[in-house]
Amino acid sequence: MAVTQLMIAGFGALILTLAVHQGRLQERSKPAPPLPPTPARLAFEAEQRAAEARAAEVRRQAEAAAAVAAANVEEETVLAEGPGRSETFGYCVACHNTAVIRRSAFTRDRWDELMDWMTEKHGMNPLEGELRQTIVDYLAAHYGPRQRGPRGGNPFLN
Ligand code: HEC
Repeated sequence: MAVTQLMIAGFGALILTLAVHQGRLQERSKPAPPLPPTPARLAFEAEQRAAEARAAEVRRQAEAAAAVAAANVEEETVLAEGPGRSETFGYCVACHNTAVIRRSAFTRDRWDELMDWMTEKHGMNPLEGELRQTIVDYLAAHYGPRQRGPRGGNPFLN
């Protein structure tokens, strides 16, 4: 009789031990609570936010520059009306805008020399023959010495 009771008690103790052990196992397999972010992680996130802000600023500047460039695109009509305007505009705006032309006031000879200078010094395609005549005539007619100045010329010339 005592042996049976001992066995039952032993068995009960075993089951209890197993149950406790099982409980501990379950306890251990629960996901650990998230750790607070480390200083390195915080620094990394701050750096990421700063990089995004910089990228946004670069995008904004690029868009602003594109808008300015689009607004500055010249039409042929910025040049004085007259025969040869299209040819001049077409040939001359490949490298610079027409501001260098509009602010100039050269004689025909000087414009003619300038065509060679542009070719020799700046790699412009040589301008020859009829097209050269047309362009130089146009430039001399509209951007010659007398066209200079707000009132259309130098009063001491002529
Ligand atoms: C291959 C490129 C190119 C082409 C095409 C070109 N130019 Fe130029 N031009 C230049 C360069 C480069 C300069 C020098 C700009 C500078 O010094 O800042 C210049 C300067 C000038 C100047 C200023 C000269 C001065 O001494 O003040 C005038 C005017 C001019 N170009 C007119 C023309 C005309 C007119 C045409 C068309 C027939 C023309 N360019 C075509 C490259 C070119």
